[in-house]
Parts: sequence; structure tokens; C-alpha cells
Amino acid sequence: MRVLITGAGGQVGRALMRVLTEAGLVPVGLTRAQLDITDAGAVAAVLAQEKPDYVINAAAFSDVAVAQGDATRCYAINRDGAAVLARACAEQGAAFFYLSTDYVFDGMQPQPYAETDKPNPRNVYGNSKYEGEEAVREYCPRHLILRTSWVFSEEGNNFFVRTLERAVAGQPIKGVNDQISCPTWAGHLALVVIAMLRQVDCNTDPELWGTYHYCDRGATTRYDFARTIVSQAVQAGMASEIQVTPIESSELQNRAEEARQSVLATDHLFFTFGIRQRGWRQGIKAALRKIQQRESAVQSN
Ligand SMILES: NC(=O)c1ccc[n+]([C@@H]2O[C@H](COP(=O)([O-])OP(=O)(O)OC[C@H]3O[C@@H](n4cnc5c(N)ncnc54)[C@H](OP(=O)(O)O)[C@@H]3O)[C@@H](O)[C@H]2O)c1
Repeated sequence: MRVLITGAGGQVGRALMRVLTEAGLVPVGLTRAQLDITDAGAVAAVLAQEKPDYVINAAAFSDVAVAQGDATRCYAINRDGAAVLARACAEQGAAFFYLSTDYVFDGMQPQPYAETDKPNPRNVYGNSKYEGEEAVREYCPRHLILRTSWVFSEEGNNFFVRTLERAVAGQPIKGVNDQISCPTWAGHLALVVIAMLRQVDCNTDPELWGTYHYCDRGATTRYDFARTIVSQAVQAGMASEIQVTPIESSELQNRAEEARQSVLATDHLFFTFGIRQRGWRQGIKAALRKIQQRESAVQSN
């Protein structure tokens, strides 16, 4: 199966490239510099040339806070870029995989969100992703939309990397204690994507297309997530203990951040594809191991 990945330079894009390559799939990965998903002509030309069976969109305007002040660019990438890709996939006979987010929900529901719950985004980023989803549903019937939450990786600029850098530098940190969700390691997410693709590739049941949720196992707060990153880094001998202080979202300057609970229920994915959740604590361990391997490879060169 021929797989093309847009936004291949991002944290999920890089994890997808690694996992698909390890699985022997030879994916075509295109960074933003190689393919701008908002350029319909370029997208059509690349799909005509590469003839992928599946296009995975890992390109996004993903900074929730910055999106509040730059709605035009956010909608251009997350909504209009998704529409460009979905149309091109439908025209060229490829299936489309769109990654989406827990921010499509309002975060007011005490129980986990199922795919059947009504989206009600409360910020620009969440709304742009929801409208992106709607465009995908409209233009490309053979689609998979996978919503996930709090993605972290050993690469790129994300909560995990920033927390680890502060722990290594011995600087205290603050963690929000009134936002609850499930951290998800990009490596685990990539394994889920490939497991779904393999099944739709060999099972012709049209019922498989649609919208699913995946996040790593275990609801937590940003505060507890930060504490766990620090304690695992200390255990691995990569940092020394630092102070982690709980704070409330209202203490942050960023208006896109508010107290919310957005745990995603993953039962639909499990009962349809048989895919179970992996734990985010194992994800932290794996991410730290990847950094150690990278550092020892640099030292031995
Ligand atoms: N991060 C999370 O916590 C999270 C949670 C739930 C869902 N998701 C979803 O997961 C997906 C991947 O996110 P991520 O965390 O990997 O984000 P990321 O690290 O910010 O990567 C996004 C990539 O998209 C690229 N990009 C931006 N505009 C583009 C364009 N017009 N054409 C092509 N590429 C473009 C970016 O390039 P530049 O760096 O050059 O701008 C970047 O390499 C997104 O759909 C996101 O909405 C993420």
C-alpha cells in the first residue's frame, strides 16, 4: 500500500514516517517546504504523480494559543487545507486520513466524549479542526478521522520537550491542575494509524470509514503529567528533581486555555478495529529512551 504523509516534519508526521518505515511500507513524506496543503494545484500534481492509496494529513496549525490571534491562517490550514486534500483524494481515488482533536468538544462533560457526542468547539483551533472534519466528510467518503489529545514526542516543540528541558536545566515549573485529558505519545498514535490502515486495506466493509477516538490510557492533569515526566527523567538519570507547582488555568495569560475535561472514549475504535490503548506513562518511558539512544549515537560518532 502506498502511503503519502503531508506535514511530515511535525511531531506526528515524523513519528508516522518512522513507524511506517519500520513496518517496511516506504511512505512518501512531504514537509511543508515540499508541499503546502493549501496549494490546490500543487496537491493535485503530487497526488497524480505519487498515486497513493492513502493520504495521511499530519499538517496543521497546531498552536492553540497562537491560533486565537491568527484565525485567518489557522482556518486556511486546518479547514481549507483539509478540504483541498479531501477533494484531491476523492478525485484521484485515494482514501484520506485526517487527524483531529479533543478541542472539537467544549470540555464541559464529566464523562468521556464518544464519537456520537455533539462537538461544540470553544476556540479558533477547535473550530477550525471541526470545520476541517466536516469538509473531509463532505468531499471524501473514503475517510478516517481520528481525534486524539495532548500529543507529545521526543521531537519538536511540545509540553514533554519543554518540561524535560526545564528539568535538565534545574528550573522549577508550573503545571495546570484544572485541565483533564489523556496525554498521547506520538509513537503510539502512529502505531494506531498504521493498524487502522492495514485493516481498511484488506477489509472492504464500507462501515469501517468514519470518525474514531484514540488517546493513550489514563486521564490526568497537566500538573501530574509534568510531575511524571520529571520523575521518570530523574529515574533515568537524565535530570535532577525540580519543583512542580500546581496552578489554575485562570492564572495563565492565554485566553484559549480554560478549565476543561476532554477525555476521549476509545470504545468505538476497540470494538471496530480491536485496537486497545497503550499507557501514556509507557509513552514517556519510550520517548526518554529514544532521547538516550539519540544522544549515545551522537557520542559514538
Ligand atoms: N499536538 C497535539 O497535542 C495534538 C492533539 C490532538 C490532535 N493533534 C493533531 O495532530 C496532527 C499533527 O499535529 P502535530 O502535533 O504533529 O503538530 P506539529 O508538530 O505542529 O506539526 C504540524 C506540521 O504541519 C506543518 N504545516 C503547517 N502548515 C502547513 C501547510 N500549509 N502545508 C503543509 N504543512 C504544514 C508544520 O510545518 P511548520 O512547522 O513549518 O509550520 C508542521 O511540520 C494535527 O492534525 C493536529 O491537529 C495534535
